[in-house]
Amino acid sequence: MGGESEKWALMVTGRTPTNIAVIKYWGKRDETLILPINDSISVTLDPDHLCTTTTVSVSPSFDQDRMWLNGKEISLSVGEFQSCLREIRSRATDFEDKKKGIKITKDDWQKLHLHIASYNNFPTAAGLASSAAGLACLVFSLAKLMNVKEDYGQLSAIARQGSGSACRSLYGGFVKWIMGKEGDGSDSIAVQLADENHWDELVIIIAVVSARQKETSSTSGMRDTVETSLLIQHRAPKRIIQMEDAIKNRDFPSFARLACADSNQFHAVCLDTYPPIFYMNDTSHRIISCVEKWNRAEGTPQVAYTFDAGPNAVLVARNRKTAALLLQRLLFHFPPQSDTNLDSYVIGDKTILQDVG
Ligand code: ADP
Ligand code: DP6
Ligand code: CO
Repeated sequence: MGGESEKWALMVTGRTPTNIAVIKYWGKRDETLILPINDSISVTLDPDHLCTTTTVSVSPSFDQDRMWLNGKEISLSVGEFQSCLREIRSRATDFEDKKKGIKITKDDWQKLHLHIASYNNFPTAAGLASSAAGLACLVFSLAKLMNVKEDYGQLSAIARQGSGSACRSLYGGFVKWIMGKEGDGSDSIAVQLADENHWDELVIIIAVVSARQKETSSTSGMRDTVETSLLIQHRAPKRIIQMEDAIKNRDFPSFARLACADSNQFHAVCLDTYPPIFYMNDTSHRIISCVEKWNRAEGTPQVAYTFDAGPNAVLVARNRKTAALLLQRLLFHFPPQSDTNLDSYVIGDKTILQDVG
C-alpha cells in the first residue's frame, strides 16, 4: 500500500440533493435487492436547500468500518449499508498518488477500513426522503474514493440497494425508476426523463409541518402494506405514462392532477394497511384543502401538492408569480411556530436542479 509508515488517509466529500416522488414507490417484490412493485417518477430538489454531505475516508490506521450520521455514530451492520459497501468494493480499481507515495490495489480496497461522516441539512426520517439523498451520496462518494468506473445507471442500481428512492437522486431534473423485470435487479435502474433546465419556471415550496422523526419508517410501512393492503393492487400504472407526457409537454394542469391524485392514493393505501399508517396530520390535511380550494377557484390547477411518508407538504407552484402568492397564503394560514404546529418553510428558488457532485 505504501505511504510513509502507513500514516495517510484519503478522503472524498460528496453532496447529493434529495428527490421527491410525484408518482410514489411503495412496496417491494424483493426486500434484499430492493426491487419495487411499481415504476416511480420524482423531481430532484435544489441541492442548496435539501441535501446530504458525506465524507468518506480510508486509512491503514482504521481498524474497522465506522459511520456517523449527523454527528452521532450509527451501526453499519445494517443489510442495506452492507449491500452498498459490498457492491462498491467489488468494483474498486487501482489508485495511485505518486507524489504522496500511496498505491492502493483492487485487493487492498477489500481489506482497508472506512470512516464515513454524513450530514443532512434537513430533517432526517421525517418524510423528506433523507434516505434517498443519504444513500445516493454514500454510494456516489464511495465510488469516487475507490475509483469505480461504472456509469450513473449502474451506480443508481447500487444506491437502490441502500434505499429504493436513492436510485433517483443520482440525476437532476425529472427521474424515472424503472421497476424492471429481471430477478437479479439488473434492469431496475433510474433514468433521467428531463434535465434540470427543461421546466425551470416551476417553484417548489416545502412546508415543514413537523421535523420530528416519523413513527413508521418507509421500509417497515411498505412491508406492512404489501402484506395486508388490498387497495395497493388498485394503484394505477397508467399514471406513469400520463405523468411522463405531462412532464415532456410541460403540461402543468395534468402534472398537478396526477401528482395530487397519486399522493392521495398513496396515503389511502397507508390507511388501508394493517396496522393503519397515518403519515399526514391535521395540518397536512388543511394544506391540501387550502390548495384544492384555490385550484378550484382558479378553474385550473395553480399549485400541486405531494406528501411522502411524513406530514410535510411539498408544493409545486406553476411559476414564480404563483409561488409568491402561495407563500403569502401559507404564511397567513399557517404561520411558522404557531399553534398550527408548522415548523418552517424551505423555498427552492431554482426548482429542479443539478447533478450530484
Ligand atoms: P425518509 O422519509 O427521511 O427517507 P426513511 O424512513 O425512508 O425516512 O429513512 C430514514 C433512514 O435513512 C434513517 O433512519 C437512516 O437509517 C437513513 N439515512 C438518512 N439519512 C442518511 C444519511 N445521510 N446517510 C446514511 N443513511 C441515512
Ligand atoms: C413515500 O426509498 O425510503 O418516499 O427502499 O425501504 O429505503 P426503502 O424506502 P424509501 O421509500 C420511499 C417511499 C416514498 C415514495 C418515493 O420516494 O417514491
Ligand atoms: Co426514505
